[in-house]
Amino acid sequence: VDLFVRSTGGNASSPIMYGFMHEDINNSGDGGIYAELIRNRAFQGSAAFPASLDGWSSVGLAALTLQQRSPQASPLSAALPNWVRVTATPSQENNTTTAVGLANAGFWGMDVRVQNYTGSFFARGAYAGAFTASLQSALTGELLASVQVPSKLAAGKGNGWTEHAFTLIPGKAAANSNNSFAITFDAAGLDGETPFLDFNLISLFPPTYKNRANGLRIDIAEAIAELKPRFLRFPGGNMLEGDTLTTFWKWNETIGPLKDRPGMAGVWKYPLTTGLGLVEYMQWCDDMELEPILAVWDGLALDGTFVPQSQISEAVQFALDEIEFLTGDAATTKWGAARAALLGHAAPWRIRYVEIGNEDWLAGRPTAYDSYRAYRFEAFATAFGRNYPAIQLIASPSVFDDMVIPAPAAGDYHPYLTPDEFVARFGKFDALTTQNQTLIGEVAAVHPNGGLGWADGNTLMANPWWGGSVSEGIFMIGAERNGDKVIGAAYAPGLRNLNRWQWGMTLLQHAADPALTTRSTSWYLLASHEITHTLPVTDAAGSGVGPLYHVAGAGKDGQRIFKAGVYNTTQPVAVAVRFEGVAAASTATLTVLSGPDDAYGFNDPFTRVNVVNETTSTMVAGKDGVFAFSLPRLSIAVLETAAE
Ligand code: AHR
Repeated sequence: VDLFVRSTGGNASSPIMYGFMHEDINNSGDGGIYAELIRNRAFQGSAAFPASLDGWSSVGLAALTLQQRSPQASPLSAALPNWVRVTATPSQENNTTTAVGLANAGFWGMDVRVQNYTGSFFARGAYAGAFTASLQSALTGELLASVQVPSKLAAGKGNGWTEHAFTLIPGKAAANSNNSFAITFDAAGLDGETPFLDFNLISLFPPTYKNRANGLRIDIAEAIAELKPRFLRFPGGNMLEGDTLTTFWKWNETIGPLKDRPGMAGVWKYPLTTGLGLVEYMQWCDDMELEPILAVWDGLALDGTFVPQSQISEAVQFALDEIEFLTGDAATTKWGAARAALLGHAAPWRIRYVEIGNEDWLAGRPTAYDSYRAYRFEAFATAFGRNYPAIQLIASPSVFDDMVIPAPAAGDYHPYLTPDEFVARFGKFDALTTQNQTLIGEVAAVHPNGGLGWADGNTLMANPWWGGSVSEGIFMIGAERNGDKVIGAAYAPGLRNLNRWQWGMTLLQHAADPALTTRSTSWYLLASHEITHTLPVTDAAGSGVGPLYHVAGAGKDGQRIFKAGVYNTTQPVAVAVRFEGVAAASTATLTVLSGPDDAYGFNDPFTRVNVVNETTSTMVAGKDGVFAFSLPRLSIAVLETAAE
């Protein structure tokens, strides 16, 4: 294939072409990027998941019982109505008790190394003495770290909920992540008549990304930052919608002190703490310099129910309040003042993109979608237009989902397809106009070619695989050709905890052990070669589209960048690229990603086998400034000249 890349012409590219999408699926928030080590730290439960002692066990001669709100015993807070009672049970043989307490297994283990662990818990009761907070091997019992925490509960009389804080510093790193955390106390220091203590909101954090309190797990955050995303789309996904009209993601219940966050019923079948809440998402954006793409709840639940027109203004106001909380002036707006009071964060954040809902088009909910087209989207668009005209609104369907989206609103397209379907959609965005922009808020190859698809029973693949990843890359090259109409794209879901997950195709997998924070085949995307605008390409032989799919553009420092993918061929493809104005003997860097012979090969997250082969070489332009190279079947490549 013989190509000539002009130095002028083409179209602008979105400055946020590649981003990251996060919702709490696959224990990717709790048990994932949210760094909290204690599982079920506040016994939250929910309507869908009754509160339990999941993750907890007793230490010594103690009995753990789950306590729930009762008229006689006040809870820690209205938001956290449940707690655990640790009752010392004297030995029947000699009527003695010693160290008793409770232990937590973490999110399937805990990573313990020589660093500070910041902990806290609330306790209630009468206890003279000290608590011991510790980390130990769950396998051998070896003590890894221990600290004495003086009791703030006076002896001899009942005390209200009292917070205790501590720091744990292990003397050495644990051999593996099969470790647990415990709080114990001396039963002899209890009041004999009430031989128990109550505990709630037991928390332990390792150091976090950019040292944020209540922050992100460093290794996962760094792996995401390495991808060089430009935006963060949050908080869903289905998570935003909730299963019912009362269990959606209520932003106002995800802010403030942890003791005032009730948590919620996650739609992915586990309860959520919402410790990773609205403010933490914004801090994530701040810390990685990401443009927030905030999805607001628009009155639709996953069970297909939706808010009637007579009540939609309440949902609209709820979303407007959310924007005011983030962006409102601290001195003159109610929610801006609330933000400042909660955070001491008087400076407003900037929100430029708001998505109205998530996947309102989804099949099986035609009546709900009708309501979106009839009045729900319009109600939001009118109110946002009046109050926040500078915000780019994004409808949750795209124009490809049978909706006319009135400009200046954009749409959101979520292709979850087979590799062949992705490659066939290489030109999908050519027909869009700049009045009809779209986000690709979620994208992933999820079904094998020729296999069962959504319509046949939803056979999601267990992992991203090389052939699927190449097809995603080719689809994205098609999107990059239309960077003036495509706002940006994010693979979804981004993260998966290897111990409990619902959806296997993710960019990154993780477990308690950071060594298992591994990149899937779809990790290797094109984001790090950012183009500011495309450059027109002419094909001397008029070869047409495929088996080489390509885009050319300019980097911000004047580099010429050529991106290509090879699909639908068993043979290598010979490529000659000449950039206008780039002379013979100029140099460029060629990066080629290729994969295994079996197109279904994947990076094994457990064995850490990586099937993606990455080569980087320096190319020297030959006569007439031609860079000539060969690309293997099923490959993705980037050729980039030096900055000017
Ligand atoms: O990415 C997983 C799910 O796929 C998202 O929650 C939803 O938006 C889509 O259907």
